[in-house]
This record gives sequence, structure tokens and C-alpha cells, in this order.
Amino acid sequence: MEYRGYDSAGIALLNGELNVYKKKGKVSDLQAFIADKDTHSHIGMGHTRWATHGEPNDSNAHPHYSSSGRIAIIHNGIIENYASLKTLLQSKGFTFYSDTDTEVFINLIEDIQNENGCTLEEAVRLALHEVVGAYAIVVLSKEEPNQLIAARKGSPLVIGVGKDEFFLASDATPIIEYTNEVVYVNDYEIAVIKDGKLNIKTREDVPTTPYIQTLQMELDSIEKGGYEHFMLKEIFEQPRSIHDSMRGRLIAANNHLIMGGFREYENKFINAKRIIIVACGTSWHAGLVAEYLIEDLARIPVEVEYASEFRYRNPVITEGDIVIAISQSGETADTLAAIELAKSKGATIFGICNVVGSSIARASDAGAYTHAGPEIGVASTKAFTAQVTVLTLLAMIIGSKRGTIEDSKLRQLMIELENIPAKVEKALELNEKIVEISEEFKDAPNCLYLGRGYNFPVALEGALKLKEISYIHAEGYPAAEMKHGPIALIDENMPVIVIATRDSSYEKIVSNIQEVKARKGRIIAIVTEGDQVIPAMAEYVIEVPETSEFLTPLVSVIPLQLLSYHIAVMRGCNVDQPRNLAKSVTVE
Ligand code: G6P
Repeated sequence: MEYRGYDSAGIALLNGELNVYKKKGKVSDLQAFIADKDTHSHIGMGHTRWATHGEPNDSNAHPHYSSSGRIAIIHNGIIENYASLKTLLQSKGFTFYSDTDTEVFINLIEDIQNENGCTLEEAVRLALHEVVGAYAIVVLSKEEPNQLIAARKGSPLVIGVGKDEFFLASDATPIIEYTNEVVYVNDYEIAVIKDGKLNIKTREDVPTTPYIQTLQMELDSIEKGGYEHFMLKEIFEQPRSIHDSMRGRLIAANNHLIMGGFREYENKFINAKRIIIVACGTSWHAGLVAEYLIEDLARIPVEVEYASEFRYRNPVITEGDIVIAISQSGETADTLAAIELAKSKGATIFGICNVVGSSIARASDAGAYTHAGPEIGVASTKAFTAQVTVLTLLAMIIGSKRGTIEDSKLRQLMIELENIPAKVEKALELNEKIVEISEEFKDAPNCLYLGRGYNFPVALEGALKLKEISYIHAEGYPAAEMKHGPIALIDENMPVIVIATRDSSYEKIVSNIQEVKARKGRIIAIVTEGDQVIPAMAEYVIEVPETSEFLTPLVSVIPLQLLSYHIAVMRGCNVDQPRNLAKSVTVE
């Protein structure tokens, strides 16, 4: 699970004693630390942490012991009322050794067990009624050694059901090596694995029947397959992941264009007065592309919202609204909360997720998976292009049902979209050239990305990729808006990456390039193959295959992903696990 958190790591193993080993840093640091320790056990748990309360260090690492050292916990999430619980527990004589909310949680369980003389399971159940916030937890006790107790609310939890063995994790990727049979635990459920059996109950102690699903995921999809980094592998997987995201949905020759999840809500989409898109990070950028697509092709007004803002600003939502939630992981806490809010006001939720069975997928009324395969690199690449592919299909379908796209245009777009994987393949051939350009700009302290129309969200995404993994400050801007601020930053040292493919705003962006050039900015231009004008103005030109304007982002983003990747590698950064970032942000 190291791709989800990597500030520190720890394990707790039962072998008569409850041995907890934990270390700041990566799993490899923990591995080195336990090399000479007793690690014999048939039951245990581990955790890779992404810090919320308290800096990453050995004592804040999980697992956490209770005061008596009898029970231990690992926890993903945030306990919001930890401060008042801590004060209460301190007044009862509990001592704390970390700054975490998690340590409060385990001591609360111990306190309840002390006071009620109950089983661990009962104490966990009662504690869940006291805590406010989000959690996926696993608890074990040396006094009840054949048992693991897990529970979830708001943070993901999956149980793998093997032969005479069980696995618990935040998603299915680490489990798939051992079994493809999994149970997704629901909010407010407690899972008890005891004496070789799995029982699931509600927080009210009512047993439920675990629904065991068989996963289709392949093990090699979560391995590096010869690439130096997951991110590079995922960039190069895009011809396939885009193709997979269209598979069964689009066959231009047969005029076949369908999306299973759309059918049931077809009338809602046809009659929608408004579509609101909620997402975070890269998924939000895919949402911006969708705004252009849906307004252009389906003529429905679209608003794109940061989920974290939307959920707290008392938005106006009516029953006729459709909310499209976009999320690679399907677990982003803010996006999930935005969905719940919109749902409570009667909106229909259409989820676009990559992770099958994820919380957002399950919370949506309908939706479409992106089929990009597991994305391990923290900086999103193939998930973005898969999201844009699915959103393009969706915009085309809504447009065709609403009669807002001419048949001939739709047919042409279908053919063009089918050709996109081949064009992305071609854009990937730019890799060597981009290595050269990266060498030239790797030491830049700042970088500006400009684009217009469909390439504006691409500029934002290019800048985000660079800052995420190379720690170079980068800003994406609509090229014309540059005049209202960022132009002040331009001098002979400033790299300005302009995405200037041949589209309806081509002439305008050529003028913007002139404005940058007049101020001696160093121009790197992404242009359409065969461009005769821009090469005379730019220091570096990257030519991408020509496609329909509507589909440009799928091609023009490729060189930007490669550029940020190579610059980050040259700067010695940890590309797959950039500092401070998490892959699935399950806390708000
Ligand atoms: C984190 C990740 C980003 C991702 C964002 C939204 O910030 O590092 O790569 O774009 O979360 O995640 P989601 O899973 O909802 O798409």
C-alpha cells in the first residue's frame, strides 16, 4: 500500500506477545529495522502513514498501542473529536506517546473495555458510537489472539477472502496477489475475523451477509513491467487505457455509441437544465475539459466545482440537476461529501471512477468506469486521459440524444476518437526529444503554461504535473488572461510552455506567443504536426498529431506528462511518491 502513504510505516504482530515495530520513512526503512527482530506470527497488521495529526516520525507512525500495551490499532482517516476525548482520557490517567488522533481512538477502546469488562469486539463497537469523523481501522489484542476486528466509516476497507486466510486493505491492489475474492465493507459495518471465519455486523450489532465479489484485476497491472517508475509505465500505457475506456462503448463502423450507466438516466440527461461537475486535482481538470465538451456538443450549461468548496458553500441544487462526480480512486473524501450533499437535495449522481467498487462508485445513482487499470504513481496520468475519453463519449451520447450534434459531425467524431490511441502512441514517440528539452529546463525555478479553449485545462494539468513531482513552481493560465498578471513574471529566464495546436483559437494564441516573445520569455510550443508559423517564434517546438479540436487534450497532454516526468527524474525527485502528496486523499 506504499503508494497511498509513505511518511512512515509499521507492523503489529501477535505471537504470544504483541510486537509493534514502526519507523519513519519508507517500507524499506521498516524492513531494515525489523531484520533482526522476532517477526514470527500468524496474525498481524501493517500501515503506511500519510500524516494528518503530528509530523511523520517513529512515535506518530502506526500501529498505536493502548496505554496498557494490550491492544493495538491502525487507522486511516481523521477523528475530529479527538481533542475532547483525549482530555477526558487524560483525566482518567491515560498517557499518550504520540500526537495522533489514532492513539486517542485505541485508548478510548481500552477505557470502554476496562469499564464494561466486555470483549474487544463490544468495546470497539461502543467506541464507534463515541468518535466523530472518518475511519477505517483494524484492531487486535493479545488477550484475544485469534481475532482481527475492522470497521469503516468514510475511509475505504476491502477484505480479501483466501483459502484459510483473510486480507484487509484500503483497496484491492495488495490483495490480488493472494486472492481475487473480495468483500467491500460498508460504512458503519464491523468485520470480525475470528478462528478462521469472517463475520460482518452493523454498528448496532446486527449481522449482515458479506457479499463476495470476484475481481478481474491482473497482477501484472500493479507491477512496473520493466519501467523505471510506475508513472512512466502509466504514461506509456495510455494508448491501451484510452482504448479500454472506449471498449464496448464505441464502434464507429457500426454507428455504435452506448454507455451502460447512461441508459437508465437517459431522460434525466436529455432534460437536464444544468450539469454540475465535482472533483479534485487532476480529475477536476478532466471536469473542465468536459465543460467545454458538454456545452459544445450537448448544449447543456455546465458548472465545474472543486468538491471541497462546493460541499461547504450552501450551493443551489435542484432535483433536475445532474451531478457528475469524477474520481480516479473513487475515495476522495471531499468528492464523496459533495455527492452526499447533492444527493440529499435530490440531484442525480453520475460517477466516473477508475476503481471498481470504490465508495464514490457505490454512492452514485449511475455511472461509468474508466477502465484505465490500477494507477499507482501519485501524479495522475492515464486516469486523466481515461476520464476525458469517457467524458467525451458521454458528451457525444447526450448530444446525439438531444439532437444537438449533426449526424455527420457525430460520425466523424466517432472515427476520430477511435483513432486517438494510435495518435497517443505517436505522441509518445516524442519521448527522446522531450528528454533533451527537459535537460535544458530542469533547473528553472518557475514555469508558466498557457493554453486556450480545450487546451486551457491542459495547461492547468501540465503545470500541476510539473509542480507535483519536480517541486518547480508552475502556473497554468488561459493564454489571453496572461496579460492580467502573469505577464509581469516573464523575462529571459522564464520558460513558457504554450499549447498551440491548430484549432479555432490558433490565430489568437499565436498573438499570445508574440506577446511572450516580445518580453523575451523562453517559448516551448506544443503545435500540430506541420505547423509552419510557430517554429519561427519558439525556442523549442513539439509537434503532436492532428486531431479534432474536441479531442485535442487527449494528445496535447502527453508531452506535458513526459516533460514533468523527465525533469523530476533529472532533479532526483521521487517521481512515484512525491513529498507530501497522497494518491487517495481520504481525509478532508
Ligand atoms: C490527489 C492525487 C491526484 C488526484 C486527486 C483527486 O491529490 O494526488 O493525483 O488527481 O487526489 O483524486 P481522485 O482519486 O478523486 O481522482
